[in-house]
Amino acid sequence: MINTAQRSTVLAPNMVNRTFRVRVCRNTIKNTPLRAGFPAFSLSALLLLLIFAAGACAQTVHPLTGRRIAPTMGIGGADWLERSEREREEHPDDALDALNIKAGTVVADVGAGIGYITTRLAKRVGTAGKVFATDIQPEMLSRLRERLYREHITNVEPVLSTQADPKLPAGKIDLILMVDVYHELTQPQRVLRKMKEALKPDGRLVLIEYRKEDPTIPIRPEHKMSVAEVKTEVEAEGFRLAEVLKNLPRQNIFVFVPLRVM
Ligand SMILES: C[S@@+](CC[C@H](N)C(=O)[O-])C[C@H]1O[C@@H](n2cnc3c(N)ncnc32)[C@H](O)[C@@H]1O
Repeated sequence: MINTAQRSTVLAPNMVNRTFRVRVCRNTIKNTPLRAGFPAFSLSALLLLLIFAAGACAQTVHPLTGRRIAPTMGIGGADWLERSEREREEHPDDALDALNIKAGTVVADVGAGIGYITTRLAKRVGTAGKVFATDIQPEMLSRLRERLYREHITNVEPVLSTQADPKLPAGKIDLILMVDVYHELTQPQRVLRKMKEALKPDGRLVLIEYRKEDPTIPIRPEHKMSVAEVKTEVEAEGFRLAEVLKNLPRQNIFVFVPLRVM
């Protein structure tokens, strides 16, 4: 996991990430038998070794679009998630208004981080509703739990998920929301299939992502998504893009519905 403690602006995190990747690559090569006894190796063993090292150094890409998958934001980036400018940059309440979330709804905040969006969702669904707040990092979930305690919120269930499985109950969710998360899923296809299983037949999957088409938005390209990338990747896993809402200053809101086999 990459720690983004030094993330002072939205432009900074990849400086940290690039250092990490270089270190991984160096270690991959350093720890191979190549250093131990090169002359004793056959040519085929050497080729295998080089292929392995190249694979370990390559950044993962999505198989359908070739999109470079962004590194996961570590707990060091948690404070950035509640930076004072975020409200002005992302208009989170306008985003949720646009989704028309009713009281009593069951929502999943997948990749909830420290709960910046979760607590807003909890207030909207009320005590008759419920929010599953998932994340792969226990440290994020502990900060989220502290926040829930501080704000006396009782209708949120934190869920420790895995890279490939959000661990949501099947067929129970009205709305799955991923805010600034999809672009960093290491196994997006498997997560999408699991999320489809978790949705009710009339449920919605919503992704909120920074617009890649706009070069003036000061975020690194792998932390943004284009409409074409999102549509291609998500529709391939059994969803239909119902609408793209453009009411936010920097992000698109993608609303998908699950396709059902007749
Ligand atoms: C940029 S943060 C956004 C957090 C939160 N949605 C927000 O807007 O404040 C991305 C979060 O997604 C989580 N994440 C990454 N891959 C995940 C996965 N496969 N399943 C669940 N969470 C994931 C990371 O651990 C991190 O907390």
